[in-house]
Amino acid sequence: MTANERPLITIAIDGYSSSGKSTMAKKLARQIGYRYIDSGAMYRAVALYALRHGMITRDDSVNADALQKALPDIRIDFRLEDGAQHTILNGEDVEKEIRTMEVSRVVSPVAALPAVRHALVRMQQELGASKGIVMDGRDIGTTVFPDAEMKVFVKASAATRAQRRLDELTARGEKATFEEVLENVEQRDHIDETRDESPLRCAEDASVLDNSFMTPAQQDEWIMDLYSKTLSSL
Ligand code: DC
Repeated sequence: MTANERPLITIAIDGYSSSGKSTMAKKLARQIGYRYIDSGAMYRAVALYALRHGMITRDDSVNADALQKALPDIRIDFRLEDGAQHTILNGEDVEKEIRTMEVSRVVSPVAALPAVRHALVRMQQELGASKGIVMDGRDIGTTVFPDAEMKVFVKASAATRAQRRLDELTARGEKATFEEVLENVEQRDHIDETRDESPLRCAEDASVLDNSFMTPAQQDEWIMDLYSKTLSSL
């Protein structure tokens, strides 16, 4: 099958925070010429907006009414720069700001709000309407694209994920301790898994990947293999 003959499909990659799903999804999209969308970045952009507009109280709870009213004023776009995806919030490139510990601390309660989820799920469905997309997140295979032809659920131990996140933060010059990052990872897992609105869970028809002890190369091979099998089963 040549690239032009391959049918376009929807690929949903869900899993725990810092499980390496974004790296894997990004690389897969590049290899197969698909568009990549990081849905977590959209929740992070909304959380940044809420922080900047005083909608987060001192105990990190969210002023849900104010945020719901502001949702029509929040525009999120993506721009490709030197092969990397940048998240644009109301015209401003916020790719760096949305990855800070401050945003990580408040993003789960923001993402648990039904109004936020409804607005972003709608945007995500529009972005994927013409297929040929790899989207990663928590509810892509269950809520956003329940009919996706290929679904992956990625997991790894909390300690492995905290170490990966710490390495990322350190590489960007942010200061954080392993304990602090582990606590944030565990806290986010808990909120993501227990929220009422589309909680993080594995879709029944997803292929599960535990990459705790896998090298990036093994992971890439695993996903390319699944992609080929998915195409041949259509
Ligand atoms: O993947 P991430 O860590 O950048 O995601 C940030 C937060 O957004 C995370 O705490 C869970 C939430 N999220 C979500 O609820 N649904 C998605 N589809 C993607 C992310």
